[in-house]
Amino acid sequence: MAILKIARMGHPVLNRPADAVADPTTPEIARLVGDMMDTLEDAQGAGLAAPQVHVPLRVVIFFAPPEHDDGASQAVPLTVLINPEIELLGDERSDGWEACLSVPGLTGLVARWETIRYRGFALDGQTIERQATGFHARVVQHECDHLDGIVYPMRMINMAQLMFCEERRHYIRSVAAADEEEEPVSEER
Ligand code: NI
Repeated sequence: MAILKIARMGHPVLNRPADAVADPTTPEIARLVGDMMDTLEDAQGAGLAAPQVHVPLRVVIFFAPPEHDDGASQAVPLTVLINPEIELLGDERSDGWEACLSVPGLTGLVARWETIRYRGFALDGQTIERQATGFHARVVQHECDHLDGIVYPMRMINMAQLMFCEERRHYIRSVAAADEEEEPVSEER
């Protein structure tokens, strides 16, 4: 297992559609996923897609931590999803602050589908199918976007809401001082 170098926005591997995995059960895919897990843990992110470690294959890993469990969201253990597909359930979207290991230091407000169903393959070749809402749905949409060459700023409508994480923390403090009922917002990588 190894910690891999993470591609940053601007690297061509992040802007091309990734290729489907022919066989999810090979030792090569298991090694890739093991390295991605090491890399994600080291970087302290919530999700990682294979193109982010310079491997243009349709593999993502993610989890939804319990602190994001706001009632509408779900805590989800670390999940490997190979050749994932997303189906929209309903037409509700919600805004949330996202970050990305390939866009270090920045955060932006992105509208995502609130409820989805996703399916894909695990490392043993078994099908995984789940319904997801809230942060769980958001992290899956964010990671699967990487497989289609999309980085979250490309989903943003108002680029004034793309900012450095440090500046946003200052902004939140000033807003919170003016309005003590400010709701915490979710972040993801
Ligand atoms: Ni990302």
